[in-house]
Amino acid sequence: MKFKKIAALAATAVLTIGIFAGCGGASQQTSSSNSSSKKKVIGFAQVGAESGWRTAETTSIKEIPKLDPNFELKFSDGQQKQENQIKAIRSFIAEKVDIIALDPVVETGWDTVLREAKNAKIPVVIVDRNVKVADNSLVTAFLGSDMEEEGKRAAKIVIDKFGKDAKLNIAELQGTVGSTAMIGRQKGFNETIKDCPNYKIIKSQTGDFTRAKGKEVMEAFLKSDGNKINVLWSHNDDMAVGAIQAIEEYGKKPGKDIFIVSVDGIKDMFKLMADGKSNGIVECNPLLGPQLLETSKQVLSGKLKDKIVHTKEGVFTQDQAKKELPNRKY
Ligand code: AHR
Repeated sequence: MKFKKIAALAATAVLTIGIFAGCGGASQQTSSSNSSSKKKVIGFAQVGAESGWRTAETTSIKEIPKLDPNFELKFSDGQQKQENQIKAIRSFIAEKVDIIALDPVVETGWDTVLREAKNAKIPVVIVDRNVKVADNSLVTAFLGSDMEEEGKRAAKIVIDKFGKDAKLNIAELQGTVGSTAMIGRQKGFNETIKDCPNYKIIKSQTGDFTRAKGKEVMEAFLKSDGNKINVLWSHNDDMAVGAIQAIEEYGKKPGKDIFIVSVDGIKDMFKLMADGKSNGIVECNPLLGPQLLETSKQVLSGKLKDKIVHTKEGVFTQDQAKKELPNRKY
């Protein structure tokens, strides 16, 4: 009976009641059925919409009010700009939300605004990428991936294929400079290949986690060193998808002439890998909505179990791609 009532409430919840611009170019949305009720409000400051991974994360987090109708979500798209995210956090503070969830575009520069949240007694949960703050009490909890571990896993795929003694020229497509995803993945990869004396990173540049820039940067890499590159290490799938187009247009076979490894595990990349155009994917799980809901409940009830929760993730090679493709949820 009780369950039926809750289900009916969830089914009738109106998803989006308002969209307004006002956060310095960022857009903010509210998902709820009745903002004057006693629902708990989470204000989520998202990075942007730069990749398939990001879209999947946004969708998952926007589902929180469907998972639990006692929660309302205010959403802000920072359009990859830290100043937009800071403005969004200040709006959430002014609106007296119950929790601020922040997926920070970069790691540094958050101390002042997070102190404002703390002074307003609003707990802050960091999601996906992390922040570096002088006072750790500004952050109540973190949930997301271990980015350094992802970089290590990517390097292991290359080592498993070629062995430690091979001579390899590696091209690296970096993610957004200053983001945890970029810093951690680069560090993990570089530390792991230290044992491989003839692995050389001959090209390294940011593609800002987007397909368009991944393609553009790969074109430039190929123009100058097209015949030298054996391996492409891309900090995310979208840049690798763009790079694959560039490699084909250059007249080489991605996945054969150039071994490709990337991070995320979006469907588009699995399709390319199933077609033999890529060689390895390190999974990074964007479906963080249920975890954010659970953490928020724990925080609000004063029963937070773990301050840091790392998401469980896998690794996939070309021979697994066809079998895994139907299981992909993003
Ligand atoms: O922070 C997670 C990273 O950001 C994902 O790997 C990437 O696709 C996204 O843009």
